[in-house]
Formats: sequence, structure tokens, C-alpha cells
Amino acid sequence: MFDQTLLSKLKGRPTPFFYYDLALLETTLGTAQAEAGRYGYHIHYALKANANLPILAKVQKAGLGADCVSIGEVNRALAAGFAPGQIVFAGVGKTDRELVAALQAEIFCFNVESVQELQVLDQLAAQVGKTATVALRINPNVEVNTHKYITTGSAENKFGIPPRDFAALVALLPSLTHVRVRGLHSHIGSQIRDMDNFKQTCLKFNEMRQWFEQQGLSFAYLNLGGGLGVDYHQPDDQPVADFAHYFATMHQYLQVVPGQEVHFELGRSLVAQCGSLVTQVLYTKQGEAKNFAVVDAAMTELIRPALYQAYHRIENLSHPGAATTQYDVVGPVCESSDFLGKDVPMPLTERGHWLVVRTAGAYGQVMASNYNLRDLAEAVYSDQV
Ligand code: LLP
Repeated sequence: MFDQTLLSKLKGRPTPFFYYDLALLETTLGTAQAEAGRYGYHIHYALKANANLPILAKVQKAGLGADCVSIGEVNRALAAGFAPGQIVFAGVGKTDRELVAALQAEIFCFNVESVQELQVLDQLAAQVGKTATVALRINPNVEVNTHKYITTGSAENKFGIPPRDFAALVALLPSLTHVRVRGLHSHIGSQIRDMDNFKQTCLKFNEMRQWFEQQGLSFAYLNLGGGLGVDYHQPDDQPVADFAHYFATMHQYLQVVPGQEVHFELGRSLVAQCGSLVTQVLYTKQGEAKNFAVVDAAMTELIRPALYQAYHRIENLSHPGAATTQYDVVGPVCESSDFLGKDVPMPLTERGHWLVVRTAGAYGQVMASNYNLRDLAEAVYSDQV
């Protein structure tokens, strides 16, 4: 991606910055849409992964809907041109103010995560004279192969309606006159590459759906969430995530009643590989135990290594030779967790070299902070250089 031509165009820009390859984004979106389209599936893009307007414009143009978890994201999706009818509002702690604003915006669907939330939504909808379309988010309690901070579908997670509440919920429904339950939803976690996890989710989901249908509910939409992972180690080997395998697995194991639409909420797999974080080496030093490359990007730009011990591939753009040394690539923030990579093999690396942290398009810029009163990094798009 970062050939000499691109580097010469980027030269002179202040670092750190995020660089987005919009051509790769388009290819990724096109592939996802084509693979989902084989089975008539619909994708809502999870804005939480990256909510930059130029990215959203491409997503919208590719025909996906929007999956939002705050009124800020709902408003951003509207600003990016998504129609209210393409917007889903999820999240375990929606405030009354957010619910009212989303009701007034007449979004497509609320993914509801507790019995109490359903009651509150019903009351608020009655107050503003609307009827809310709802999908029930169930917690399928499945094991997932990913970092424990990004699992969401096991019994110990705060997400979704626990099975113990199902019967009470069904009993309550006839008294709720301003909510219309039309969907069943689940999301088990993120950065999942083991297709067996998705298979197990489908099997649990099928059982739960049948149970609800036996109680007289019928669902127009089934929403299986997001979670498909990407290759952080070899981003160039598989720049586009394995949508074919993912949707084929869903198709094989998810039971669908004729007429039911199937929806997904993908975030990371759509945007991770198109984004990179470019940073400059400020200093190098040989510590007692480690070599350090101190760079001008930090956990404030990319918190994933600090928060989830996540691996991101790091390359030296200024000296693309064979690796001879290992460096801990660390930022200027006053925290020992402020690292972008540990024991990173690189050629001899010097002050002024540019490094690139790959696969930073998802959960990078959106999770940035200005801790230590640092400036926020800019975004540069491939169509601007
Ligand atoms: N739907 C729901 C209800 C979610 O909670 C999430 C992500 C998604 C969809 C999108 O999942 P994806 O396709 O992106 O895996 N900050 C963490 C990831 C947190 C994911 C939160 N939920 C990270 O950097 O790994």
C-alpha cells in the first residue's frame, strides 16, 4: 500500500496521522455486499468501528444501513445521508433523551437489551405519540475465541436479555401498546475468525427463535450482529475479510422462516484494513533489557494494544530492508501501557523514520483521546493526496 509514490505524496505532512485507502474500502464493501447478497442478507455498518464522514459516505453509497449505539452516532449516520429507515439503534444503556430523539427521528429499529428498557421505550413512545419497532437482543451464552474484553454473548456479559427473563417478557408484551416486536437479535463479540463460534451461535439462536415463536411471537427480521475478524498479522495476504466463508456459515446453520429478512451489523471487517496509522520516530534508545523506538503516536491514537494486548503489524517505511533488531515501539504518554508494539522486528531504525501501524481503520480513531492534552491526529484519505 505504502509504495514510494504514495510516500512522496505524504511527505511533509505532520505526523501522526491516519491514512485511509478508499479504494480498498470500496473493494471490501463491494465484496461484503456481493457475498451477503447471495443469500439476500442485509448489512448495517457498525459506526462504532469508524464514524468518519468520508468513510460513511462510501458505506452509504455501497447500499449498507447503519448500526448505531448512541444518539451521536444516529445523528452522524443521518448527516452522512443514511435514511432513518436504514438506521438501527443498539446499546445496553440508551438514555431517555436518546430514546426520545431516536423515536422522533423515526429510525428503523431499536435493539432492546432488557425488559426494563422495553417498558421505558414503550412509555416514552406513548408520550411522543410514536410506535417503536423493536428487535429483542438475546444473550445466547456461547463460548467465543477472542479477547475476553470483546466477548458479548456469554452469560457473564452485561449484554442482551438473559433467557431467565424470556417468559416474563412474553407475558408483558400484550400490555405494551407502543412497541412492536419485529426482530430477534444477538451479537457474540468481535474479532472472531473461528467459524465454529458463528455456527454455535446460529444453533442457539435457532432454538431461542423457535421458543419465542411457540409463544406466539413472529419475527420479520433476524439480526446476527457482527464480529467477523480480520488478519492483523498478515494484512497484505488477506486485505479483504473472509466474507464468503462467514455468510456461507450463517446460511448453512441459521434457520430462516420464509419471508424473514436476515440482518448483520459488521464493523471491523469492513474498515480495519483500509486504515493505517503513520507515525514518526522521535528517539531511539537501548535500554537495559529492550531497544525502544519512541514515536509520536501513542495509546491516544490507538489504544488497542494497551487495552486488549492487541497485535498490530508495524513496518518501517523509511528503511524497508530486512529486520535486524527488535524494538518496543512506544509513545510519549506517561503510562507503561503506552505501546503500539512489543519486540517488533525492524531494520535499523533511526530518529525521523516513518513507521506505519497497519490495520488501524477499525476502533482506532474512534477510540482516540486527548489524554496528556495531546492533539487528535488528522485523517488523510487516498483521494486527497
Ligand atoms: N453489533 C454490536 C451489538 C456490537 O456490540 C458490535 C461491536 C458490533 C455489532 C460490531 O462488531 P464488529 O463487526 O466490529 O466486530 N474496541 C474493540 C471492539 C469492540 C466491539 C464492540 N462491539 C476492539 O478494538 O477490538
